[in-house]
Amino acid sequence: MDRLQDTINILREYQQEHVINLIERLDEERQRTLIEQIQGIDFQQLTEMYNNTKRKIEFKKSKIEPLKYLDKEKLTKEQKERFDELGKQVIQNGEYAVVTMAGGQGTRLGHTGPKGTFKLDVYGKGKYLFEILAENLKDANKKYNTTIHWYIMTSKDNNEQTVQFLEKHNYFGYNRKYVTIFIQSELPILDQDGKLLIGKDYRIKEASDGNGGTYSSLRASGALSEMKNNGIKWVFIGGVDNVLLKMADITLLGMAIEQNVQIASKSVVKANPHEKVGVFCKMNGHPKVIEYAELPEKMAEQVDENGELKFGESNIICHLYTIEAIEKASKEPLIYHSAFKKNSYIDENGNEVIPEAPNSYKFESFIFDAFEIFDDIGILRGKREEDFAPVKNAEGVDSPRTAKELYERFWNKQKEESLIYGNYDIENNINQPFIKIFQ
Ligand code: UD1
Repeated sequence: MDRLQDTINILREYQQEHVINLIERLDEERQRTLIEQIQGIDFQQLTEMYNNTKRKIEFKKSKIEPLKYLDKEKLTKEQKERFDELGKQVIQNGEYAVVTMAGGQGTRLGHTGPKGTFKLDVYGKGKYLFEILAENLKDANKKYNTTIHWYIMTSKDNNEQTVQFLEKHNYFGYNRKYVTIFIQSELPILDQDGKLLIGKDYRIKEASDGNGGTYSSLRASGALSEMKNNGIKWVFIGGVDNVLLKMADITLLGMAIEQNVQIASKSVVKANPHEKVGVFCKMNGHPKVIEYAELPEKMAEQVDENGELKFGESNIICHLYTIEAIEKASKEPLIYHSAFKKNSYIDENGNEVIPEAPNSYKFESFIFDAFEIFDDIGILRGKREEDFAPVKNAEGVDSPRTAKELYERFWNKQKEESLIYGNYDIENNINQPFIKIFQ
C-alpha cells in the first residue's frame, strides 16, 4: 500500500479526518513531511493519554506514608566525613556525570528564550542561569581535580537558541569537549475533542514531552551509551532554574553509596503547605513525588505529632542515580500528566486561530514518576538558604528578586566565613563568587 493511503487509513481509524483534508491539499514536499511526522506518532498511546484527561487522579486507594530522610545538619562528624570521602572518590575517579534539564522556556518568568539564558541581576554585572551552573561545576572540577562531563538537555523549540547562546559565551569557560547537548522528544497536542492541532507550518503541533523524557532521550541520543563507555557510575540530574543548586554534592553521593540505593535526592523543608513544590512520600511501599498541582489540600496541610508538615520534604530537582538506574528508567514507560493550555492552530480554511482561553491538552511525563520503579530512595534534607533559590515567576515568590537575595546572601556568607578562616583573596572580583566550594 502506498504511504499516503496508509497514513489516511491511520488518520481515519483514529478519527482525525480533518488532517486527511489537509494532506490532500498540500504540495508534494509538505505532504511528505507531514506523512513522515504522522507515521512517527503512536496513536494508541495518544488515545490513552486523551482518555486519561477525563480521569481524576485518585490517591484514596493507595497507602501513602511520609518518606524517611537524613538531615544533613544532623549528621555526626564521622558520618559526614565517611559520606564525603565515598562521594569524593567517585568524582575524582571520573565516574560522575551531570545532566541539566533545560528543555523549558522562561514563559512563566516572562523571558523570551530558553530559561537558561535568563540573566539574574546579581553582584552588579549579573549572571546567566547557565553561567551559574557552569561556575558550580567548574568549582567542583577544581576541588576534585577532574572535569565532570556536562550533558544539557534542550527541546526542539529551544535547541538552536541554546547552542548559539552557549557558543557565543564560550560555554562560560567550561571545556567544550566535556559538554554534550541533546534534544528531548515531543508529543502531539490535542484539542478538547481529542483532535490533532495543525500549525502554521502545516505540521501537527507538538510540544516537549516533559522532563520525564530525560531518561529515554538520554538513551535515544546515545548519551547513555557514551556514559557507560566512559565508565560513569553515578549520574546527577538537575533543573536549570535553581541558582543555589549543588550539582556535585559529595555528601549526597556518599550517602547514596553507603545506603546502597540506586536513586537519591536532596530535599528542603516545605516553606508552607501551599508552596508550589512536589513532595516526597512513599506510595504502596515505593518512593514517589506528588506534584503540587496534584496534591490534595488535606494532605498538603496534614501535620505530624511534632507539628511539622507530614509531607514536608520538597523536591528541588536534585536527583542522583546509578547508571543502571538511568538505564532501567529509560526503558520504562512513564505515566503522562496533562495540562490544559492555549495553543494556536490553523483551521480548515488555513486561517490561524489564536485562542483567548485554554483550548488544548499538552502531555508531559515527570522525571520523578520513575522513582516508583525502585524499592527505595535515599533522601538528604538540605537547607533552603544553601540549596534552593528557584527562578520561576516574574514577581513575588520564586522570582528573580527572591533568587538574587538568596544567591547574594549565600555567597556573602561564604566570603565572610572564608575571611574568618583567613583564606579569602581580597583581590578577588566581587562579581565572581568566592572560589571556595560549599558542599
Ligand atoms: C519542578 C518539579 C517540582 C519541584 C519544583 C522545584 C517536576 C515535574 N516538577 O516544578 O516537583 O518541586 O520544580 O523547583 O520536575 N523541563 C525540561 N523539559 C520539559 C519540561 C521541563 O527540560 O519538557 C525542565 C525545565 O527546564 C526545568 C525543570 O525541567 O529545568 C523543571 O520544570 P518546570 O516546568 O519548571 O517545573 P516546575 O513546575 O517548576
